[in-house]
Amino acid sequence: MLILGIESSCDDTAAAVLDNDHILSNVLNCQDTIHSQFGGVVPELASRKHLQSIHPVVQKALEQADVQLSDIDLIAATQGPGLIGSLLVGFSYAKALSHVRGIPFIGVDHMAGHILSVFLSSEKPVFPYIALIASGGTSSIFLAEEAHRFQLLGRTRDDAAGEAFDKVAKLLELGYPGGPEISKTAIDGDPRYVQFPRAWLDENSLDFSFSGLKTAVLNHVNQQKQKNNELHLQDICASFQEAVVDVLVGKTLLAARKHNIGTIVVGGGVSANPRLRKLFTERCEREGISFHAPQIQYCTDNAAMIAFAGSRKFSVYGASTIDEDVYSRSQLG
Ligand code: KG4
Repeated sequence: MLILGIESSCDDTAAAVLDNDHILSNVLNCQDTIHSQFGGVVPELASRKHLQSIHPVVQKALEQADVQLSDIDLIAATQGPGLIGSLLVGFSYAKALSHVRGIPFIGVDHMAGHILSVFLSSEKPVFPYIALIASGGTSSIFLAEEAHRFQLLGRTRDDAAGEAFDKVAKLLELGYPGGPEISKTAIDGDPRYVQFPRAWLDENSLDFSFSGLKTAVLNHVNQQKQKNNELHLQDICASFQEAVVDVLVGKTLLAARKHNIGTIVVGGGVSANPRLRKLFTERCEREGISFHAPQIQYCTDNAAMIAFAGSRKFSVYGASTIDEDVYSRSQLG
């Protein structure tokens, strides 16, 4: 089965073609240069850029896969969560193609794409598993029972982990997106330089909160400036990163213990973070848990994961109807 995947939930226009589970093409038009001057995604600019890019990106994905639109058996497009204006571009484009060409189409939850993105790599996990999805828009823990059945166990109560990386990078004037900048700057830093707070919340809670941490970094920076002290950027980044990673790993392991699950999977942009991967690898090894992370190019938003998740959903539920709408909050769990 040939599947065309389309993703436009935030600031990346993406299309991919899969032949069953085999990736034939994976095209991405990244808008970072447009949004970097504002230190974050500007929704209206994102939608307008999607409108310009969607057709060329889909054409390129078909060309690179060496297939025609008439060969496609299923069109899968991100239905939500995300920015409504951005989602509408890819979703409406997919519905129009489906309607005109008589190809079945399916709306896919972006979170399902991230939860399953690890299947795009050669080493695949077995169900059930605990999935930590950490990106610019979410920090959530799911129990993935099957490729179409997910239970939400915990989520952020305020800022998402990636959002915290982006906001802290902005206040440290490190550029956008902040995650990669902070992780690069942190490489030679001391993670114990500042003991930033970890929001564990209630003892058994699987929810996250990162807004206090962001404020703690701001307070530290202001105090140093007031004292005319030099800012130890590398150490601040390493200490901040350690505080985020510590909580993400700790709560995901708690979820695995609580639900007696022996496999952990990560996904979303923050799962590209080398320190996060290292800590997961070490702690999972110690606790006898099998750990799986997607290849770096499938951590951030991409259409290959949407095509994959769409094919799994389609095999159980069949096609979506033409009157379906997009949504801003995940409907999983
Ligand atoms: O999944 P994604 O591409 O888009 C969303 O759906 O949000 O994730 C983007 C987020 C950004 O907040 C970015 O700063 C973060 O992922 N990110 C990272 C790293 N690479 C990307 N955060 C920490 N460390 C990284 N290496």
